[in-house]
Amino acid sequence: MNDLWIQPTGGALAADVHGVDLSKPVSDALFQRIADAWAEHLVLRFSGQKLDDHVLMAFSARFGELDRVPVAAVGFDRLESGLEPAAQQWVAVISSVRKDGKAIGGLGSYELVWHTDMSYNPLPPRASLLYALEVPPDGGNTGFLNMYAAYETLPADLKHAIAGRTCIHDSSRNSAGELRKGFQRTLDVRHTPGAVHPLVRLHPVTKRKALFLGRRPGAYVHGLSVEDSEKLLDAVWAHATQERFAWYQKWRAGDLVLWDNRCVMHRRDAFDESLRRLMHRTQIVGEPVLAG
Ligand code: OGA
Ligand code: MN
Repeated sequence: MNDLWIQPTGGALAADVHGVDLSKPVSDALFQRIADAWAEHLVLRFSGQKLDDHVLMAFSARFGELDRVPVAAVGFDRLESGLEPAAQQWVAVISSVRKDGKAIGGLGSYELVWHTDMSYNPLPPRASLLYALEVPPDGGNTGFLNMYAAYETLPADLKHAIAGRTCIHDSSRNSAGELRKGFQRTLDVRHTPGAVHPLVRLHPVTKRKALFLGRRPGAYVHGLSVEDSEKLLDAVWAHATQERFAWYQKWRAGDLVLWDNRCVMHRRDAFDESLRRLMHRTQIVGEPVLAG
């Protein structure tokens, strides 16, 4: 296949990959060109794809070992997802759709705050691949942030203030703010459950430094008073979440979007809860987080 064409969005990150049918075998040479484009653009969109879960899992596995789906929120039962047994541990269903009154997927139709997927784990996934099966005519756009750019443009005082520091990434709530099964609410951020990671991380492939914030709720910078931690995090977050570092994906059915979870954060706009939106997501096991 020689007609692969990478078209940057022209925004702060992301590119379209044209000329690939992911339902057909992807050669090693072609895969390498995709991997190179991914390192350069951080987010790749493959439009017009027709993927079943087997193909989604097989293509995802080219990027590394599949990671298990996250712990579900209270009140959501994965058995309602309708996934084949072989896919249930590996494919997360993200959906507003209800069947007989029960959600078939997680995260409903709410706004999702800026976050890194599963960064509350000691080995956060290196990538997520989100495939749209059904989307509403509008709403539910997904924003992506370039965390290399956010780090590189950080004012010197903030760069200095976070250098060598670590932060807690809250495992108790999902990106919609819902409590996960088996967790209690914690009010004191010093006791937030979850992994502790450096605020600046070195990307193992590109060797570039990126801000690594995870998610704002429940975050706490070690070694600071709660007040100083809140102030520092508010300042860093205000910088990192500027529109100039963001690009928004407006979904069409058949879009597969791959993001680098090591140097990208994402969020989602809310949408009308009566509208159907159905996405299947895989995630790829990451490597140990390197301090930058
Ligand atoms: C995710 C996620 C965004 C969306 O699947 O990790 O954040 O647009 N989803 O549903
Ligand atoms: Mn997410």
